[in-house]
Amino acid sequence: MPAEIETIVLPDSESMAMRARDWLVERCHQAIASRGRCMVALSGGSTPKRLYELLAELPEKSIDWSKVVLLWGDERDVGEDHPDSNFRMVRVALLDRLDGVRPQALPIPCGKQSASQAADAYEATLKALAIDGDLKIDIVFLGLGDDAHTASLFPETSAISVKDRWVVANEVPKLKTTRVTLTEPIINNAHHVAFLVCGANKRWALDKIHGSERNPNLYPSQLIQPAGKLWWFLDQAAADR
Ligand code: 6PG
Repeated sequence: MPAEIETIVLPDSESMAMRARDWLVERCHQAIASRGRCMVALSGGSTPKRLYELLAELPEKSIDWSKVVLLWGDERDVGEDHPDSNFRMVRVALLDRLDGVRPQALPIPCGKQSASQAADAYEATLKALAIDGDLKIDIVFLGLGDDAHTASLFPETSAISVKDRWVVANEVPKLKTTRVTLTEPIINNAHHVAFLVCGANKRWALDKIHGSERNPNLYPSQLIQPAGKLWWFLDQAAADR
């Protein structure tokens, strides 16, 4: 079980994005004050896009971006300019819209090598950020699939059971593709893990994750039990069950 869990329900997706923005500002201040930097692993998909847009619109100096390192929780096996790229989504919503100092962005290097090579390269990037071989990412944002996947830990895929790697390539038969994803150990080593979940279509997954049937192979988000604090940001549509 995580050390601490907090669930915050907002009326709609816009207010959820605004609350997550303000929450991130607080977390970044805390991390920078105590550790001199703030590492944030960003989620892909559609839900967090509005959050990233709102971050770009913050008043100057709300976040000291010069001390922020952006990581990615997972990536599709495409290049950085591909419409499906999670990096591209962040670049368009946030990075290209920031005036002044930008955060250091460390995308997963997909699209120019095999997914497995990209995973190895990204793991080396994370190891270089580690202190004495340990990497505690300050904030990991996660989305939730309607099948209860998170990052690219999809039901009945091999990455679910990986405990000795931080980043792996993961074949996802249902999507007929391979993804690159952070694994449970590195996600659960984070100081804060925050799910951002909107929409009634996520209710089934939320029920399964919090239900009595423990089966991470079917409901991979059950794996997420961080040593630090677990946050759920939900809109009312997702929370109503
Ligand atoms: C991705 C994400 C994935 C996503 C969920 C929810 O690369 O797509 O990492 O885990 O967060 O599928 O996606 P939505 O936010 O689009 O519902």
